[in-house]
Parts: sequence; C-alpha cells; structure tokens
Amino acid sequence: MKKGGEKLLESLFLFILATSVDGVQRFAELPTYTEVNPGEDALLKCRISDKKGVCSWQKDNKPVGIYRGKYEWANENSPSDCSLWVRGATLQLDDGQWQCQLTASNYDVQDALSSPPAALAVRVPPQAPRILFNGSHIMPGQNITVPAGSRATVVCEARYGNPPAYIEWYLEKERLSAWSQTNASEVERPRVWAARSVLELAASRSARGRQLACRAHHPSYPQPYYKDAFTMLDVTFVPVVSIQGADASTLANLEEGSSALTLECKAEGNPSPYVWWTKDGQVLATNGPMLILAPVARNHSGNYRCQARNSLGTSDAARIDIDVKYSPRVTWVGPDTVVEANLFSKVTLECRAEGNPPPEYQWFHNPSPTSHTRGIPEGEYPVSSSAHLELHNVTYNQHGRYYCVAVNQIGLEDRSHQSEAITLNVLGPPVGADAGAAHAWSGNEARVTATVCADPPPRRAAWLWGSLRLDVPSQIGRYRAIDPSGVDGCYRYSLLVSSAAVSDARVYVLHVENERGFSSHAVTLTVHETEHLAPLIASALVIAALLVVITCLVIRCCKRRRVKKPSSQRTRSTLTGKHHDPRPRPCRPTPE
Ligand SMILES: *[C@@H]1O[C@H](CO)[C@@H](O)[C@H](O)[C@H]1NC(C)=O
Ligand SMILES: *[C@@H]1O[C@H](CO)[C@@H](O)[C@H](O)[C@H]1NC(C)=O
Ligand SMILES: *[C@@H]1O[C@H](CO)[C@@H](O)[C@H](O)[C@H]1NC(C)=O
Ligand SMILES: *[C@@H]1O[C@H](CO)[C@@H](O)[C@H](O)[C@H]1NC(C)=O
Ligand SMILES: *[C@@H]1O[C@H](CO)[C@@H](O)[C@H](O)[C@H]1NC(C)=O
Repeated sequence: MKKGGEKLLESLFLFILATSVDGVQRFAELPTYTEVNPGEDALLKCRISDKKGVCSWQKDNKPVGIYRGKYEWANENSPSDCSLWVRGATLQLDDGQWQCQLTASNYDVQDALSSPPAALAVRVPPQAPRILFNGSHIMPGQNITVPAGSRATVVCEARYGNPPAYIEWYLEKERLSAWSQTNASEVERPRVWAARSVLELAASRSARGRQLACRAHHPSYPQPYYKDAFTMLDVTFVPVVSIQGADASTLANLEEGSSALTLECKAEGNPSPYVWWTKDGQVLATNGPMLILAPVARNHSGNYRCQARNSLGTSDAARIDIDVKYSPRVTWVGPDTVVEANLFSKVTLECRAEGNPPPEYQWFHNPSPTSHTRGIPEGEYPVSSSAHLELHNVTYNQHGRYYCVAVNQIGLEDRSHQSEAITLNVLGPPVGADAGAAHAWSGNEARVTATVCADPPPRRAAWLWGSLRLDVPSQIGRYRAIDPSGVDGCYRYSLLVSSAAVSDARVYVLHVENERGFSSHAVTLTVHETEHLAPLIASALVIAALLVVITCLVIRCCKRRRVKKPSSQRTRSTLTGKHHDPRPRPCRPTPE
C-alpha cells in the first residue's frame, strides 16, 4: 500500500513538472526506496530541472547537514543534481524516511519543492525463524500434537530484521497460504522488525508425521537468502479397527479339528492403541491383536468383536461371526434299545443327534447288514425322514431292527452317523389268514394248511372238525397234525390226511393260542374224484399253465426281495399284509 501510494504521488509530481513549460523549477527524478547493507554507501537520487533554488535533505522530518565522509553531494558541480551519498550507512544514524527539498526560485515565487518521503533501509538480518504453537516455542525435532479434525493455529516469527523478513509455509513440498503476516517494530529496538505469520492448519489423519516448515526470506541472510524452521505434525486420532485374515471362503468352511484360523485385529490410532477381543460379549485373554484358533473347535463358534482404545477414545467394534461345522453324531436313540409294543398300538422312536449344520434324520428298517456299518445304508429306502419315527398301527411285519442316521453337509461333502439298533418286538395274539382252501385227489394224501403270525410264539394249537379235536402235534388214525414251520414269527400249520376220501371234504378249523390271545382259521378241503378226471385234467392243465406263470412271477419277486433281505434276518413283511393271498409260496423254505 505504502509503496503504491508513493508511486502514485511520484507520477503525479512528474506530470505536474512535465506540463509546466514556463521555466518553473521542478523534480526530474525523485528519491526512491533504497536498501543498503551496514557500512556500505547509499545513493539517494534527486534531480531538478530549471533549478534556481538551493538543495537540502531531511531525514525523519529533521534537516540533514552536509559532512564530508558521511553525507556528501553526489554531483556538486551539476546545476540540476541534488542527489546525496550516505557514506558508511548505519542503522542507528541513517535508517529512516528521507526527503529531498529545494528552496523557492525567489522570495515572491511559491515554487519551493519537497519530495515525498523515501525510505532508506539499512539491512539487518533477522534471527532464524522459529515456530510457536500453543504459546510456546517448538524446539528443533519437537512435534506439534493436534487431534485430527481440529484446526491448529501455528505461528512463525523472524525477529530483529530490517526490512522485515518475508515468511512462507510449506507442508512437505506443498506451499500453504498463511492467514496473515504482520510486521511490528521491536519495542526495545525501534529500527528493526518482528515479522509474524499465522497459519491456520486443518489437521487430518493423512497429515500425520508430515513436516511443517516455516521459511523466512531476507536479503541479508547468506545464500540462498532464506532460513527454515521445521516441526513434525503428530496428528492424534481415535483408533479404527479392521479384522484381517478372515476371507469368506475360509469362514464358510471351518471344520472342527481340521481347520485353523488366525485373525488379526488391525488397529490404527495415535497414540498407539490398546487392542482387545471379545466373544459373545466376554473379553478374551488374547495376547494383543492376534486371535489364533488352531485347530478350531465347536465351542469357538460365536460372535467375535475387536476394539481398540487410546487416550482419545474407543474405536467402533469390528465384528465377525464364526460358525464351526462338525459332523453329526447320534447322541441318543430311544425310548430303549429294545422296544416292545402291542399289536396295533402306536410306537414312536426318537433320535437325537448333534452336528453343525443341524443334521437331518433318516430311519431304516432292517437294512442289509453289509450296507449299514457306517453312514447311509446303500440301496435302502428310509421309512421316515424326521427325528421321530411314528408307527401308528404297528403290525408284525414292522418288528425288527431300526437304525437312525443323522446326515449333514460340510463343504460339498455329506457326513453321516448311524445310531445303534433299536429292536422293536411286536407282541400280540395270533393273527392269520382268513378262511383258506385246500384241494386233494381222492385216494391221495390231503394237506390242509394255515399260517398265523404271533409274538410270543403260539403256546398251543389244535385242528378241529366235526366233533374231533387234534392237538398239534399228534395223530389220530389217518389224521396227523404236524409241528408248524416258523419263519419270521409266522407259523405254517399243516394237517395231513392220508388216503383222502370225498367224505373228508369239509371245513377244518385251526385254533391257535398264545399268552396274548387266540384265533381260529377255517380251511375248506375239497376232494376231487378220479372219475371226473378228463375235464379235471383239462382244467388242471390250464391252472398249471397259469400257476407256472404266476410262480415265475413270484420267484422273480422273491429273488429281488431276498437280495435285500437275506433269510438270516427275520422278516414278517409277507405275512399280515399279504395273507389274503391263498397261493402257494414257493419262495419260503419249508423245513419239513
Ligand atoms: C496448550 O498448552 C497447555 C499447557 O501447556 C495444555 O494444557 C493444552 O492442552 C495445550 N493445548 C493444545 C491444543 O495443545
Ligand atoms: C511485512 O513485510 C514483508 C516483507 O518485507 C512484506 O512482504 C509484507 O507485505 C509486510 N506486511 C505488512 C502487513 O506490512
Ligand atoms: C513425532 O510424531 C511422529 C508421528 O506421529 C512420531 O512417530 C514421533 O515419535 C514423534 N516424536 C516425538 C519426539 O514425539
Ligand atoms: C472348548 O472345548 C475344549 C475341550 O473340548 C476346552 O478345553 C476349551 O477350554 C473350550 N474352550 C472354550 C472357550 O470354552
Ligand atoms: C390296524 O390295522 C389292522 C390290520 O391292518 C386293522 O384291522 C385295524 O383296524 C387297524 N387299527 C387302527 C386303529 O387303525
């Protein structure tokens, strides 16, 4: 401002001079701002055109005399030059505002001249710049500690310089613009200046550890004519945490016993934070930020969080859910290893298994022994796919061994575990076929048969016809009641009649009894006479042909069944469900 003003004034002066062409004295050159090093000479320029008056100089509004060796006319002989040499300039004597003056050309002409003041500055190098923060000087190597997000006011001063130093700020290489620079004359040494620059610095986390420099420029400094002051920004901030080492696929396939997991809670914070882990809200005794689960166990499953804390505060929590998978294991099957149930009653078998993911259940009935050593029996169909097996109306063919298999999937693999067997015994009175039929040729042996199922086994059985009763086993005359052949809890009773006669054709009743009750089964015997052989043979041939076809079908079906259920196992599946079928059963071995 000051210099600009001076310039304006000066050009105004010269303009006035140039326009007066009537021989009035005027300035041809005005003194300007001049700097000089201590002890050196300074030339203050002042030239007049049409000079008629007498030159003189003022410094700080006081007249200056001409003294040889100190203040000398620069060009004594020139009629127009008032320039002045200041020899061996010193701060105390010569620094100040100088004016070139000229007396009027005559006492009645008002053309005396006085130049605007021009400063002569005798240079004094300022002290090295220093940084101030929060009212105290920052020593070299010392930090400025600022919380992130706040604004810090940093001051740099370069004192006792003339002219005042020019101050710049740098953050690393980046030039920052200062709020303001003020130049104030030093109280105890009025000729020199304290230059102060104030910087408003917005502290961000990224500025942490960066160097802040204040640079004071002054021509009296040695080359490169500036000096720096440094400090480092120590930006403090509340910690931030993140969990490392937990990629999605690792987490999805954690299996008990075989996987290991190492997690790191990475915490950034200044001052350096204290880090801790919690599991389901309970603080874990980890040694610092590492959480090592090797190998992982099912009780490692849970919600983990890590947090960090420093003097500024506590971080948000970083979370991670750990779900450790493990194969199923049947822990209980019941109600007991042997279950006794009444015929037609309701039976519920229950299976409990642990496993993660929670297992699914399958029940198998009498699987073949080769397939059920472990896992899901191959080629068998489950009788139920829930943890509870409910048999609402239990029949003899449902007796036998039941296995529960618990299955889950880990990764892409099925894992399973099979329970111990539960043996189901169905207890009840004998149950058998409805009235059957038997055929014989007269003169041949007739065989009257009936099959019943019972558990416990029949205690007593007898054949009844007319007024006769024949206990099993016993014989009266031509009639012989033989011991039953037992298969799978079912019993085939036979009454043999030797040399059957037409009079033997009648209804025979089998009476069977066990601890639970009794039942009666009527079988009608038909005796065919040989005279009517011709039509009979014809029909017998047709029947035989049919029988062959049926037998073949039955054999095929039985073979299939036998592949699944070898005879070593007890099976009643053919009984209660199929006893209406009066056909012979070629697939059942008859031990007689
Ligand atoms: C400034 O200094 C005072 C005392 O030296 C201290 O209590 C205060 O926390 C400091 N303020 C900042 C922003 O550093
Ligand atoms: C202070 O001094 C410097 C250097 O001489 C100058 O650039 C600046 O304009 C001055 N500031 C004020 C407010 O006078
Ligand atoms: C200065 O701050 C930096 C960055 O925060 C830090 O590494 C260094 O230890 C601090 N130095 C002092 C002396 O405090
Ligand atoms: C997890 O179970 C193992 C034994 O299976 C035990 O030694 C350990 O202390 C348990 N850990 C936790 C956190 O319960
Ligand atoms: C159970 O089954 C038997 C034979 O299939 C049948 O006679 C009986 O009515 C059934 N009982 C119930 C309660 O369903």
